[in-house]
Amino acid sequence: MTKTYRIAVIPGDGIGKEVVPEGVRVLEAAARVYGIGVDFEHFDFASAEYYQAHGQMLPDDWFETLKGFDAIYFGAVGWPDVVPDHVSLWGSLLQFRRHFDQYVNLRPVRLLPGIVSPLAGRAPGDVDFYVVRENTEGEYSSIGGKMFEGTDREVVVQETVMTRQGVDRILDYAFRLAQSRPKKHLTSATKSNGISITMPYWDERVEARAEQYPGIRVDKFHIDILAANFVLHPDWFDVVVASNLFGDILSDLGPACTGTIGVAPSANINPEGTFPSLFEPVHGSAPDIAGKGLANPIGQIWCASMMFDHFGEKEAGAGVLRAIEETLAAGEHLTRDLGGTAGTAELGAAIAERVLGQG
Ligand code: NAI
Ligand code: MG
Repeated sequence: MTKTYRIAVIPGDGIGKEVVPEGVRVLEAAARVYGIGVDFEHFDFASAEYYQAHGQMLPDDWFETLKGFDAIYFGAVGWPDVVPDHVSLWGSLLQFRRHFDQYVNLRPVRLLPGIVSPLAGRAPGDVDFYVVRENTEGEYSSIGGKMFEGTDREVVVQETVMTRQGVDRILDYAFRLAQSRPKKHLTSATKSNGISITMPYWDERVEARAEQYPGIRVDKFHIDILAANFVLHPDWFDVVVASNLFGDILSDLGPACTGTIGVAPSANINPEGTFPSLFEPVHGSAPDIAGKGLANPIGQIWCASMMFDHFGEKEAGAGVLRAIEETLAAGEHLTRDLGGTAGTAELGAAIAERVLGQG
């Protein structure tokens, strides 16, 4: 054993509590097989129960508590019957993203074996790209306000904020990711025809940063046709970089092209490692199926693979992803969203079994 990684585990709400244990099971299996030390600490905050008991989503000292961890392994937050969604999200996950400066939101888009794509005729390999979303500024700013509230002159304004630092660092992350991939291709999402100040600036920075990465082929699309091309030509993409709002939309659309939201992972990354990065499935707490053991744990388990990649434990990361692909290709132990009859724990255990078999 070389290093022991300290991981904060936060299941949150709903199916987060069901899929996180399966993710931990696979993390432990991979750690054993690949000789990596992992030390888990579980936390009950960032949940509706915690909110009911304490009147807030997080303890006052959450920053101090979490900041020393190597990573946060997160389920999903939100239980709208008890806490309004804007309170639960802003009171927990968005605090982590901002205070831990997780400025990269990274989402793989990859068609897995055995999952039928809504894009007929596409096979694994045709759909295999990343969406890199700027995660701290852009259209999601707190600059703005309301005037003349409640009168017929009522006016609301919310400004987009792009800083040179904020734009350049997300572009650099995306260029480096493209460099690490065989296709070495970066696509930028823009809308400089309609949004005539910030988006031309974004384009300008893409051109400026591209000079530092001569081996990368760069192109750009306006967000509307880019969204269409995700569906029409998903094989055109390798690494797609986008502002906060455009990235939010693309990173739901991309995984939707791969069959089921239940398999999609995401990483909120602080690349410098100043703070822990956070790994969470794309899906939410799914109140409609929560508590029944029906949730697909693959999105949560794929997050374990991304977490290993982030640690630099590439073999373990690839091993977990391979175990997911082999399990799906075998077509057994599938959950209902995949057309099977298995429960959350059965699918999780089958993937953990395959990881252990790699030893
Ligand atoms: P959702 O992602 O929880 O569910 C959308 C649909 O997908 C539901 O029909 C659900 O059953 C299905 N689904 C989701 N994950 C699945 C899985 N692993 N296996 C099988 N089926 C799955 O989104 P929704 O319903 O809009 O939001 C529910 C709650 O989750 C809200 O409180 C929302 O704010 C929160 N949420 C939290 C997120 C986070 O923590 N990052 C992200 C999205 C939503
Ligand atoms: Mg979203």
